[in-house]
Amino acid sequence: MAGEKHIMSPRIGWAIGVLTASCVALAFGFATLESLSAAPHPAQAPASAQGSAFPSAADIETYRNTVERLFLTDRGGTTPGMAACVMCHTWQTRPMRFSLETPATDAGWTPEQSRRNFDVVTKLVNTGNPDTSRLLLKPLASQAGGLGHTGGTYWTSREQPEYQALLKWIRSLPADKYVAAPGPSLDFTFFRSCVQQVFATPREGHIRCSNCHSGGLVGFAPPPQNGKSWSDEEAKRAFQSISRLIIPGNPEQSRFMLKPLHPDGGGSYTHNGVRRWQSRDDPEWQMLAGWVRGQKTGATCS
Ligand code: HEC
Ligand code: HEC
Repeated sequence: MAGEKHIMSPRIGWAIGVLTASCVALAFGFATLESLSAAPHPAQAPASAQGSAFPSAADIETYRNTVERLFLTDRGGTTPGMAACVMCHTWQTRPMRFSLETPATDAGWTPEQSRRNFDVVTKLVNTGNPDTSRLLLKPLASQAGGLGHTGGTYWTSREQPEYQALLKWIRSLPADKYVAAPGPSLDFTFFRSCVQQVFATPREGHIRCSNCHSGGLVGFAPPPQNGKSWSDEEAKRAFQSISRLIIPGNPEQSRFMLKPLHPDGGGSYTHNGVRRWQSRDDPEWQMLAGWVRGQKTGATCS
């Protein structure tokens, strides 16, 4: 398998998009299957920050040398926790929120691309409270306060040099410019009454979410132990697990809302499971979106 050989070589290269699905599936494990659907490169809006004082060309250069260099770092493997961030976080993984440009050259991004990446990356930081930035908390081990990350654990503690380098960069940004707006909170009662109901009632001809999502990182829908309904404790664990795949306030970019949605309706390019919704007009999708936006609470579904 030539493709696999290529991807295993120390210099990773940017050939992900042209590899065959089976090669990458082997090399990466299931978590990254999505990264290989060859998506057309979408036209992009010009960077919103352009024209204002920050970021200057020098600021972009600093960002390239600290942050982007880290995104490119090859850690000697192709699995979660080892692969370079860029192998999963490019436009090919659309519609994830953390989607960088596909590097134009073997050496990485052009300065112009970096400027656009900068706008993506600064949505993942919180200059109001740098240590709570998602950019820092996703690759951080859960035992150290991390959020959990399909892409794996990169730092076992906050003391690690990469964490510290990113933290230092976030602290160097204008303090009031990249403050994350507090998202709405997800209602547990609604999850218990209405969201778990979705897992419990497969659509005709479909298999249950529970068949595949019963354990590990994607274990948000384990079957109830008593075979009938989930206990409070089971529900709480499932709630925590699914919360990781949701960006509160933003159903359009939440994995939970995208994976089971048909690609023609704006869903993910790949899901090794079912497509429960053909489009976002599906009333069930709308109901769940209302919950993700913090608008739906309590035990009334519909
Ligand atoms: C093997 C693929 C893979 C690799 C490698 C990977 N990630 Fe991820 N990452 C994902 C997936 C899938 C998600 C979405 C699901 C989740 O949030 O866990 C994600 C989510 C994220 C998020 C949350 C984005 C948001 O919109 O809130 C951040 C931040 C992030 N990753 C940072 C990184 C960094 C930094 C690296 C490199 C040190 C990295 N990732 C490496 C697959 C990967
Ligand atoms: C036939 C097995 C199967 C079924 C049924 C299935 N899935 Fe999946 N799902 C997978 C696999 C495998 C992955 C990981 C690879 C991928 O992303 O496609 C996944 C990934 C996901 C993810 C992203 C997880 C992450 O960590 O980024 C979400 C969200 C998801 N599925 C939701 C659902 C929902 C909701 C249902 C039920 C409506 C469902 N799936 C049914 C196999 C399945």
